[in-house]
This record gives sequence, C-alpha cells and structure tokens, in this order.
Amino acid sequence: MTLLIKNGLVIDPANNRSEILDILLIGKKIIKVAKGIGDDVGEIIDARDRIILPGLVDMHVHLREPGREDKETIQTGTLAALKGGITSVLAMPNTFPPPDSVESVSLVKSIIKKTAQANVYICGAITKGRLGRELADIAVLKKEGVLAISDDGSSIDSDALMFSVFKNAKNEDILVICHSEDKVLSNSGVVNLGLTSTRMGLRGISSESEYKRVKRDIELAEKIGARVHIAHVSCKESVAIIREAKKRGAKVTSETAPHYFALTEEDVLGYDTNKKMNPPLRGRDDVAAIKQGLSDGTIDAIASDHAPHTENEKDIEFERSEFGVIGLETELSAAITELVGNRILDWAGIVRRMSLNPAKILGIDRGTLSEGAVADIVIVDPKKEWRVIKEEFVSKSRNCAFLGKKLKGVVEYTICAGKVVYASASTDKEHYRA
Ligand code: DOR
Ligand code: ZN
Repeated sequence: MTLLIKNGLVIDPANNRSEILDILLIGKKIIKVAKGIGDDVGEIIDARDRIILPGLVDMHVHLREPGREDKETIQTGTLAALKGGITSVLAMPNTFPPPDSVESVSLVKSIIKKTAQANVYICGAITKGRLGRELADIAVLKKEGVLAISDDGSSIDSDALMFSVFKNAKNEDILVICHSEDKVLSNSGVVNLGLTSTRMGLRGISSESEYKRVKRDIELAEKIGARVHIAHVSCKESVAIIREAKKRGAKVTSETAPHYFALTEEDVLGYDTNKKMNPPLRGRDDVAAIKQGLSDGTIDAIASDHAPHTENEKDIEFERSEFGVIGLETELSAAITELVGNRILDWAGIVRRMSLNPAKILGIDRGTLSEGAVADIVIVDPKKEWRVIKEEFVSKSRNCAFLGKKLKGVVEYTICAGKVVYASASTDKEHYRA
C-alpha cells in the first residue's frame, strides 16, 4: 500500500526536524520525507494544520492477559493504545501466570501473535511467580525475547537478592525496571502521607517509601554497572536522587506518568477511587519537581502505567479499592495540555519523552520518522479540545483519573507499519483497519 501524508508539521527530534513536510509510505516503511512530494500516488491524508509524530512508545502498560481478561486483554488494550496514538507498548508482568519461564513467555507471545493490534513487547518477571523470593532464569527470558525484567507492583526487599538481580542483568545485558517501594514505610497507606491522609482519615504512604528504595536500587545497579530504570517517579526527592546519579554517570533512566504531573494530592480529597494509585498523587512541590525533571531530562520518559480494574474493584470504599488508573487513551492529550500548554516541553520534547527515549531505553527500532524506518506514525490535531467521558473508552475498564476533564489535542490517525489502524470520528475515514 502507498500512503502520502501531505503538509503536516513533522516533529522528529532524532533527525533534528520540526518543519512542514510530506511523508511517503510504501508497504511498511517510510520511503521519503520531503517538501512537495508529487501526489499521483495511492491514498492521501491531508495533514494541513496537523502535527505528525513518530508512533508513541509506552513502556509501562498492564494488559492483564493472561489471567485477568475481565479487566483488559491484549486485544482491547492495544486497541485503546492505538486510539491514544501509541503504536508500541511494553506489557508489564503483573499477569497470571507472570512471564517468568519459557512456557509462560511463549503463552503471551502466542496471544500477541493472534490478537495484538499494536506492537507489544514483553517485560519478564524478576522472580518466579513475581513473589520476590526466587529469581527467574534471566538468560532464558532474554532468549525468549523479553526486553526488560521487573516485579512491578512490588520491590525486592532483600538487598542481597537485588544485588544478584543486577549481577545477572548485567551479564545478560538486560534492563531492570524497578517499582521502588519499601512496603514497611508505605505502612499499608492508600493516599499521600501528610495533610491529605490526615484530612481524609486514611493511612498515608510517605515519599520516603519511594525515594529510599530509588536510592538503594540505583546504588546497587551502579556498583555492578547494570542498567536500571525507575518506574513511575512521583516525588521530588526521587527526582533529585536520579539527577545526582545521572551526573555521576550511573546507567539510570526514569519515567513518570501523566497523573503525577497533571494532578496533585488535593484531587483525591473527594475520595474518588479513580485517583487512587500506587505511588499516590503527591503534593504541589512534588508535581513542580516532576515537571522540572521532565524539562531538564532527569525524567527520560512518560509512560501511562495503564492499570485497568473492573468497576467491582474500583466502585467501592476508598480503602478497599484497587490501586491504579487507565491512561492509554488520555496520556498524549494530558501531556499536550499540561506540558506543551504550560511550555514545560515543546513538541520535540514530547516526542523524546513519549517515543524516542523509551524506544532507546528498550533498544527497539522505533521513535523516529527517518527514511527507511518502520512507518509507525501519529497525526494529531493539536488545537482540538475534548472531554474525557466514560462511554468513549476503548479499554475494557473505565478507571481514569481524568474523567470529566477537558483535554487538548486529538489523535486523528494512527498508522502502524504503514497501515492506517485508527482514524478518529472527525476524519472522513472512520475505520480501525484500512
Ligand atoms: O497503581 C498501581 N497499579 N501501581 C502498581 O504498581 C501496579 C498497578 C496495577 O497492576 O494495578
Ligand atoms: Zn509499579
């Protein structure tokens, strides 16, 4: 198939490009990026007043399959991703079974092959059963194609065990993604510790529970020279620790999620369980530090931490409800609204944090609009506003922290390997598959 995208503002920091250009796709690839490509070829998309980005890469997504298909499946999760402009996701290992062996990774791979609508990469488990006790065989997982390992949802408490993890990871040259949390210090909390937990009469999760573990994880990785990626950074101290570690030359990267830069702990005062996640929404100082970290590059990536849950698990008392919010369909608009809108990042900065950097961290050949690259592309109407409403989610779950909010920026087209796989209702080509 031949597809010509005309007159869009092409944002491609990998090639230092931010200009109005045409892009010609043939088959799965980008063939030409230039001004005034002749339009006597195949299908044409008029991208005047639109922004063209490389397909987004979300490196923290819970697809829930196998095991909790009532929350999400690989099919529904990847369809939601496409609606959000995300063409590649890293599937986190919080599944039943978790990808901790040849058999369990093969199972995920077979479901991906049959049902995935976007590129899905697998994050293996660090420990068998994700139980934090016995290490999975990393060499075997790597051979099966996992791009990283994580026990997301919890941290490995034993320093000695974590030391072995980094040692093995260094030997296999695999990335370790850390959910850095000391559960003793989290104290069974459900919201940020401080004024919020006091006002709500709920147990609080201290920032200390996060940043002490961030510090430990980085220091252990650094001793060995292993690569470590800190997931869902939420507090100012973690940002400072990561900044210092980068200055020292540690091989550390990090991510945050839109709720940590767009919302504060005050948003949870109404006991809305759609604002309950782990780590929790933090204070204004923390949000300011996260934004600073995004702008100065301390925080490399924005990932959704898309964590779908059923209404039965969310629409209940605050303390009993599950931690986590969905984010695939709102993350780009949240970033445009909050970061581009407030001049914290420019468009190239958005592409770096949401496509180029995560692709580099994972070592995948995505994140750019270079000639010859796989044609994963998003076309965005940057000015259009929309309201987040329950009924419009493609995800199986509805637990979104931005429900009711007005956001700026609408994904009009998502193209995966040269094929239009999503077109919004506002286009004249409303279809999921060309
Ligand atoms: O809020 C969260 N939800 N944080 C996590 O670390 C895990 C996730 C989930 O799996 O639901
Ligand atoms: Zn986590």
